[in-house]
Amino acid sequence: MPEAKTLSVIQADGVLRRLQALRSQQEVKYWAFYSSQLGGVITDPALMVIPFDDHMVHRGHGIFDTAAIVEGKIYDLDAHLDRFLRSAEASRLKLPLGREEMRRVIIETAAISGAREGSIRYWLSSGLGSFELSPAKGAEPGFFVMIFAGLTYPESFYTEGMRVMTTSYPIKPPLYAKTKSTNYLPNVLMQMEAKEKGLDNGIFVDADGHVGEASNMNVAFVTREGVLKHPRFDNILSGCTSLRLLELASALVGRKLIKEVRVCDVTAEEGRGAAEMMLIGSSIQVAPVVEWDGQKIGDGRPGPVAKALMELLEKDMRTAKDRLIEVPY
Ligand SMILES: Cc1ncc(COP(=O)(O)O)c(C=O)c1O
Repeated sequence: MPEAKTLSVIQADGVLRRLQALRSQQEVKYWAFYSSQLGGVITDPALMVIPFDDHMVHRGHGIFDTAAIVEGKIYDLDAHLDRFLRSAEASRLKLPLGREEMRRVIIETAAISGAREGSIRYWLSSGLGSFELSPAKGAEPGFFVMIFAGLTYPESFYTEGMRVMTTSYPIKPPLYAKTKSTNYLPNVLMQMEAKEKGLDNGIFVDADGHVGEASNMNVAFVTREGVLKHPRFDNILSGCTSLRLLELASALVGRKLIKEVRVCDVTAEEGRGAAEMMLIGSSIQVAPVVEWDGQKIGDGRPGPVAKALMELLEKDMRTAKDRLIEVPY
């Protein structure tokens, strides 16, 4: 006797009900989702889906970037879009829309979401049509925009500082490190490894002992001589936040908090001996690191330069007219 079947074929209305039931298992704050494949914006998180055979899903052939919404304005979108286009080129992805149209879709989706504080993440996928290694014949690239609450970090990261470890996972080769590909496996594993050890994040160090970056953040140091040092961007992601802060940091020279700003190789040994260490990125902004591989950084407490950089960034995110786009709600 054949065994009774336990699986059933689900019809379209059943799929919808089950997608909604899946969503009710977790609280998510996703407010609006644009899909070029569907040609519009979706506000029900249960329906924020893409086809399973999209090359981005099953081969990681896609890219993404993120920008922030602050007090009803989008901060530094153009810098993030420029990087998005560079990632697309490095990944040999075609664009379904021109840069200006993508920019317009991002702004309109933000407006539909109604969110005055939050994150905008957008993706480019190579499209659907097969499970091959190369994109399917006739595959149309997909563009997606998600307006959501963004990543959150504990307040203690800022008040007490973060504790990090050198990851045991190899740093990504430069081409992949500089491309914001949806294939973030090394970054995911690095963060999981650190959390399992009760730490806050990992740090990639290259074969020559040079500091790379953290899971989704850049790393910077203040030497005991007062030099703000940031690793060169040749082998890591060009963080939009770091690049902006490196410009703004000249104000700290005037205030005598630092002597100079330098973008150069930084060895892990030098980093561990620094007066201050910090992680920098659009989501974390600027968070002090007080311990690396069990060794205290500086006096083991958050330092004044990390705090001053955070204040410069917060001000910039609210007042830098040339970097803010008013959302037309
Ligand atoms: C690997 C990696 N490094 C650095 C950063 C920081 O970049 P940004 O300041 O543009 O957020 C990110 C985040 O996007 C990242 O994913």
